[in-house]
Amino acid sequence: MERPPLLAMVPLLLALLTASGTAERGRAPQGKPSRVIRTRRGSVQGVEVHNGPRLPPVEAYLGLPYAAPPTRFMPPTSPPSWSGVRDGRYFRPVCPQQLPDLSNRTAALLTMPAERYERLLRLRQFLTDESEDCLFLNIYTPATGETARARYPVMVYVHGESFSYGSGNALDGSVLASFGAVVVVTLNYRLGVLGFLNSNLEPVRAVANYGLLDIVAALEFVRLTVAAFGGDPTNVTVFGHGAGAACINFLMTNPLNATVQLAAGVNCTATQSALLPCLRTQPLSALLAAPVVAPRFLPPFGPSLDGIVINDELFTRRASYAHRLVSYRVLAGVTAADADQQLSESQLSDGVTAAQRDSTLRTYVQNTYSYHLNELVSVVRHDYTDWSRGQQPPRRLRDQLVHALSDAQYVAPVTRTVDMYPDDQNTYFYVFNGGSDYSDGKKVSWLSAQTFLYTCALSVSS
Ligand SMILES: *[C@@H]1O[C@H](CO)[C@@H](O)[C@H](O)[C@H]1NC(C)=O
Ligand SMILES: *[C@@H]1O[C@H](CO)[C@@H](O)[C@H](O)[C@H]1NC(C)=O
Ligand SMILES: *[C@@H]1O[C@H](CO)[C@@H](O)[C@H](O)[C@H]1NC(C)=O
Ligand SMILES: *[C@@H]1O[C@H](CO)[C@@H](O)[C@H](O)[C@H]1NC(C)=O
Repeated sequence: MERPPLLAMVPLLLALLTASGTAERGRAPQGKPSRVIRTRRGSVQGVEVHNGPRLPPVEAYLGLPYAAPPTRFMPPTSPPSWSGVRDGRYFRPVCPQQLPDLSNRTAALLTMPAERYERLLRLRQFLTDESEDCLFLNIYTPATGETARARYPVMVYVHGESFSYGSGNALDGSVLASFGAVVVVTLNYRLGVLGFLNSNLEPVRAVANYGLLDIVAALEFVRLTVAAFGGDPTNVTVFGHGAGAACINFLMTNPLNATVQLAAGVNCTATQSALLPCLRTQPLSALLAAPVVAPRFLPPFGPSLDGIVINDELFTRRASYAHRLVSYRVLAGVTAADADQQLSESQLSDGVTAAQRDSTLRTYVQNTYSYHLNELVSVVRHDYTDWSRGQQPPRRLRDQLVHALSDAQYVAPVTRTVDMYPDDQNTYFYVFNGGSDYSDGKKVSWLSAQTFLYTCALSVSS
């Protein structure tokens, strides 16, 4: 198979950056030591994982360095080789990050549903060990003992939900590896300010999107190394689920606003030549603590146009861009109500008033569009109102709001992404409706993007 240019993978990644599914416990899989596997970087011993009598055992090799410890605000470089047998039985540090504040449950449920709060608490157990030296991946393989020569398809999980937090460590790949007979790879990439700062204050082009480059480096490591673990390097699927598919929207925001706020917060001069040298000397805690406020519905730091990793060819020369995507197949989709995670617990269970719906829609439109804001709000409100019914009780208003926000942030961007791919039989789109209940008056149990993988892993394991 001809190898596609690495940068052409970026739109694919944008489509697939995902939500975190989390295992119940914040620790590595336990078991007997596995075989020792020799890779081109060195040897590694992992752990044998047994998930009950019905699933064949798999082996987990954790914490492999896919790049050198990164230099702040620089692209990743080749991983070091090591001598001796590396201990692959435990996770290595996650990238520095900031979870939403979970310290006061009552306060947190004013901004998120209880289900999301509980999920973030479970995720937090995996995030206790943080370091800028965080470019590690984990390999779960069904190739054990005499089946070791098999060439299993490879699935690389890119975590998501936010460009500010998460870790591949939180997805226990052992169940999928065993049930699906695939090699599963999970990985960390740089997040937040360290992963996505855009320092192009003057119209010169300097690389941003370090986090995306980390993912590309991890895929390169997988291509070169996965055969030693029983994986087929010509059969690699990148997968995930969640907010990242909406990246095309994020790209249109103004990334320098956050850059300027950050510089002010740590007393660095916001000029092209002075900024990065100054930010490199700052303690990590100061960078993470600097007050950077993003408008609601937008991340402070996320993928942005830098002219190098992501250039505006994406928008201006669609046809030539699409041409670079021909060697990829894509399966993309949405769930019934991806935006339900953005309501508070009481809004999700009891519904919203007309005034709350209007103010949320207005905030969304103001923070995302530049022109005709009042007209946009009116049109959206009109189009998402069910005119066949006289009364609009709070739960019906809630449904209208969630559908409008889901369409704007997920359905439309995912559709646009899929539309960029060449028109042939290799592009698929799905709508996942499991778990939704639209009947009026009932408490819904929507299954949003963020819970999708988690639920799948649980139902597969039980
Ligand atoms: C938690 O947050 C709620 C709502 O904001 C507030 O009323 C309460 O005092 C807070 N509790 C603590 C212990 O800070
Ligand atoms: C990848 O592996 C799957 C499962 O074995 C197989 O169905 C598929 O044809 C393979 N794809 C390629 C491109 O080899
Ligand atoms: C920035 O400078 C101000 C005024 O000199 C000072 O009060 C503040 O502590 C400094 N902040 C940091 C993060 O160094
Ligand atoms: C930058 O973000 C802040 C905080 O959301 C906002 O008040 C300000 O208007 C933004 N400035 C620009 C130029 O977008």
